[in-house]
Amino acid sequence: MFDFTSDTGLHIVSFAQELLMQQTTTPLRVAEALRKAFPGTDSVLLSEAQTLASNRIKASFLGSWTKDALFTDTMLQQCSHPKLSRIHAAEFPKDSCVVEVCTGAGIDTAALAAVVPSVTTFDIDERVVQYTRHNLQVRGISNVDVICADAATEDLPPANIWSDPSRRSQDKRVVDPESYAPPLSFIEHASGAHMAGVKVSPATHIPTAWVGEYTGVGWQCQELVLWRNCNKPRVACVVVDPSNGKVVRWIPPDLGPEKITEVPASQLLGARMIEPHPAVLRTGTLAHAFAANHLVGVDTTIALGFSESANEQVRFPHREYVVQDIVSADFKSVNKLIRHYHLDSGTQIKKRGFHLEPTVIRRKLKFVKSGTAGILMFTRNRERRICMLLQRKNKGMEL
Ligand SMILES: C[S@@+](CC[C@H](N)C(=O)[O-])C[C@H]1O[C@@H](n2cnc3c(N)ncnc32)[C@H](O)[C@@H]1O
Repeated sequence: MFDFTSDTGLHIVSFAQELLMQQTTTPLRVAEALRKAFPGTDSVLLSEAQTLASNRIKASFLGSWTKDALFTDTMLQQCSHPKLSRIHAAEFPKDSCVVEVCTGAGIDTAALAAVVPSVTTFDIDERVVQYTRHNLQVRGISNVDVICADAATEDLPPANIWSDPSRRSQDKRVVDPESYAPPLSFIEHASGAHMAGVKVSPATHIPTAWVGEYTGVGWQCQELVLWRNCNKPRVACVVVDPSNGKVVRWIPPDLGPEKITEVPASQLLGARMIEPHPAVLRTGTLAHAFAANHLVGVDTTIALGFSESANEQVRFPHREYVVQDIVSADFKSVNKLIRHYHLDSGTQIKKRGFHLEPTVIRRKLKFVKSGTAGILMFTRNRERRICMLLQRKNKGMEL
């Protein structure tokens, strides 16, 4: 295996990177230029250098520490979001070392190394280990020991554990954490009485020995982190607003009604409409959360909350709107509403519990040529299909 972390390897990758960053170039021209610049070098190797250079450019979203880094396609695809890595790392006590199972591109590793005295991290893949060692070293991160081994067959040192296991099997995303590499039971056993955190799919059911934190950046719930042996509630949400870096934490109420309280649509005109963040939906506690925040619904099974109060703060991550108008969702009525409010084709179409997809709905609507871009929500109320004209409020969480 050619060593891309050698001086020659890094030189070829940086050369390819400079070429790729020229605005007028194409991948084909870069390949040609590389062949000319490094005559006699194996073409497979040059093509790999080009991939590494291209991944280095793509990795800029990971932050400045990845500037001279090396990533395979898989490392880049599987890597953690640095904002979430920092949040998870901050959970570990600052005075004890951490064992990490599944290093990958080392985004979590770097975040942990910034918090705890030292990190011992294991990855089964030789190339991943080689690149991540290099990536950490060029950024001056010196308190990490990267070990190439199958963690599941190792006697892990007794310490707090962080793990982001591989979740793909034959290109299918796996939800059951026992099918992960390594499986959840291995981490549970290896951590003993120590604290452990494991990143799993948000579709995973929280096992009894663990508590769960649904996390996301922006309007997405990217992951569920299972924690054990730490002082955390059974379920929580942690959401990062990318526009201002604000971290919103929410713990659902323990108890409440089983169902959302449904009211007739006629009561909702002028009300505030609350769209819960996907991480809130994942907790499965929506009816409790709505009741605790004095929100009612259009339907017991639809995740839209409404508040008659203009100011009462809603204490879970959400987007907020005002209901400007409500009509029956037949297209004659909706087109009349469009004409009345001069809505143009910039209008956003949303649906909750409605039988047609937004693209299909859009084809049936006749927007005015140049007017206002509104928001139309197609939904259901008491067996009736309705369409609400919404106005986005800048108050509340801007995600
Ligand atoms: C999802 S990635 C980790 C990504 C990492 N958190 C990051 O921020 O880049 C999972 C990694 O686990 C490694 N892996 C899979 N099975 C393993 C095992 N049994 N022992 C150690 N590492 C393993 C894979 O090689 C892969 O690099």
